[in-house]
Amino acid sequence: MEKEISAKYVTAGLILSEAKNFAKKILVPGADIFECAEKIEEFILKKGGKPAFPVNLSFNENAAHQTPDWNEKIVLRKDDVLKVDIGVHIEGYIADCAFTVNYSEKYGKLIEAAEQALSNAFSILPNNPTIGEIGGRIEKIILEMGFKPVDNLTGHGLEQYLQHAPPSIPNIENRSKARLENGRAYAIEPFVSTGDGHVREGAKANIFCLQEIKAIRNVHSRKILGHVVENYKTLPFAERWLQRELKMSNFELKVGLKQLMHEKIIKAYPILHDLHGSYVAQAENSFIKMEKQIIPLVVENDGKAKGT
Ligand code: CO
Repeated sequence: MEKEISAKYVTAGLILSEAKNFAKKILVPGADIFECAEKIEEFILKKGGKPAFPVNLSFNENAAHQTPDWNEKIVLRKDDVLKVDIGVHIEGYIADCAFTVNYSEKYGKLIEAAEQALSNAFSILPNNPTIGEIGGRIEKIILEMGFKPVDNLTGHGLEQYLQHAPPSIPNIENRSKARLENGRAYAIEPFVSTGDGHVREGAKANIFCLQEIKAIRNVHSRKILGHVVENYKTLPFAERWLQRELKMSNFELKVGLKQLMHEKIIKAYPILHDLHGSYVAQAENSFIKMEKQIIPLVVENDGKAKGT
């Protein structure tokens, strides 16, 4: 990896480290989730980065892809298990991290399992493990702690303007003998569940991503498409962002998005959830794999890399 590129990843990681601390500070019981999402994304912009995807604030059985609608009223409660997944990019080079918030202590062990699985996976990276071995390590830790790994959510490669690039890095032993390549960036993200360890797509989606640029007639669709291509490229975006930036009516926006989905120009990411009434925790960090070292992109307050 060229020096200028790794420098962009590292800068994205430093901004993300600060954004993570900021998010921890404001996501307290009674906090308004819509306001928090907007503030975290604003914080990233103020620091000179851009959100690589809408801040995911996924509650309880929802594992991922939940982000508030414009002015949606959801308040964080003490008992909620909230996954906070944040991404920052610099010219398309992405740092990606996640953590879980809970104030009741009831789910401390669940959250600890996700954190332990992540730091254990990081600890074996210097040995150049196979992808199957990374997943196996994550699975083992989670099972030992009495929970289930989510088998259909995975870590991933990171490429310029591509948040989920190959390969998938599973949270279970999948027997893959492939190894991570030097000079590339990756994210590892264990999900731990009290449910059956399997996510399904919910009915609701308010995160989208460009699939293929094609001509489209509808005037609202055209306006949205132009904005997406110019501002987000192939990175995910929220309906909430369009509402803030395009000043279209709710009706125009819904019609425009529906048509774009129908033509397969954009695709939706529905909320992913485990069994009703279950709880899911997540921990994530990203890193650059160099020939002789692993460079974690999110570092803790003391400057010490997470997972080492
Ligand atoms: Co990720």
